[in-house]
Amino acid sequence: MRIAVTGGAGYIGSHTCVELLGADHEVLILDNFANSERDMVAEIAAIAGKPLDTAEVDLDDRAALGRTLEQFAPEAVVHFAGLKAVGEAMEKPLDYYRVNVTGSLNLLDEMTRIGCERLVFSSSATVYGMPEHVPIPETHPLAPTNPYGQTKLMVERIIEDLGRARPAFSGVSLRYFNPVGAHPSGRIGEAPRGVPNNLMPFVADVAAGVRPQLTVYGDDWDTPDGTGVRDYIHVMDLATAHLAAIDLTGEGPGVRAFNVGSGRGYSVMEMIRAFESGSGREVPYTVSGRRPGDVAITLADPSLAERRLNWRATRDLATMCEDVWRWRSGRGG
Ligand code: NAD
Ligand code: UFG
Repeated sequence: MRIAVTGGAGYIGSHTCVELLGADHEVLILDNFANSERDMVAEIAAIAGKPLDTAEVDLDDRAALGRTLEQFAPEAVVHFAGLKAVGEAMEKPLDYYRVNVTGSLNLLDEMTRIGCERLVFSSSATVYGMPEHVPIPETHPLAPTNPYGQTKLMVERIIEDLGRARPAFSGVSLRYFNPVGAHPSGRIGEAPRGVPNNLMPFVADVAAGVRPQLTVYGDDWDTPDGTGVRDYIHVMDLATAHLAAIDLTGEGPGVRAFNVGSGRGYSVMEMIRAFESGSGREVPYTVSGRRPGDVAITLADPSLAERRLNWRATRDLATMCEDVWRWRSGRGG
């Protein structure tokens, strides 16, 4: 199939493109490189051993977006492009609504215009807000607590409404839990700009000696060791979930949402220890107070994805840590 991938040069998009090429799809990346490097595209092609097309396009530029899509005539679109930092979203909500919501509207408008009826959208577990119970099934109330989460839920709802209005439309929203890991080649991975917000890239920086120590945000949570528990999912498992979702959009019209997680939780302390053994480096840390907005535990109930997408996470925590370390240690300081 011809598949257009918005944000395909980014962290999750790049790994998914490798898998799409590996499955013999023809891939076009649309990216404005606001949060990725242009040379990622060459890395993706080198890993896959196949070429792919790239268009430098901003989702804000509807004319350019339309021209690019018209020319490529995709049979399906995987939509990663967007802004994703919760803290930044609180400071600059309008940027988030513009890029994530208006950008998605532009994309859906242009897909509709060229008659492309199949979409896979990057949503997030953040649409659930404060978990009322764990594990979290897709039927859990949707109550985001920040503008970033609001944009994800809005786009999910726009996609649902489009599905109701267009009988041939088929859409899947994938609600990612905590993506970590890197391609086993060590050639692509997560490269946040500035100080990492998320645990795994921060731990990797500490192990690499770039940052002196990790701050553990609280050890008095209601969890077995007192530190926060999350459902970490290897980015290569996430990539294969997108392939399964594209297949599902080919089975007929309709709009569905799936959790993409492992169903298994790890605490911050378990992550530190696993990273130390995966890297052979020490990860010094201090414990501070809780980070505002954090919760004790998030955990996916992935059973719907297992049943309907015939997909499950297969890579364990040791693999996540080894793959991150291979990528991080190859990049130097
Ligand atoms: P990323 O920032 O690495 O990738 C996003 C890509 O989109 C980048 O290459 C960026 O340059 C591009 N982009 C941003 N704005 C654009 C625009 N206006 N026009 C065109 N391209 C644009 O992020 P990621 O971690 O790969 O996340 C991908 C998607 O998954 C995002 O929608 C994010 O919200 C969602 N998500 C990520 C996580 C996570 O923890 N990484 C968790 C849940 C959901
Ligand atoms: N943590 C630390 N120190 C750090 C960073 C994180 O102790 O320097 C802890 C957090 O307190 C939490 C755990 O590590 O207990 C994971 O934190 P992350 O920031 O890696 O991930 P979150 O679960 O907080 O956030 C992720 C995404 C968000 C999304 C949210 C809910 O990054 O975009 O999941 O789905 F909104």
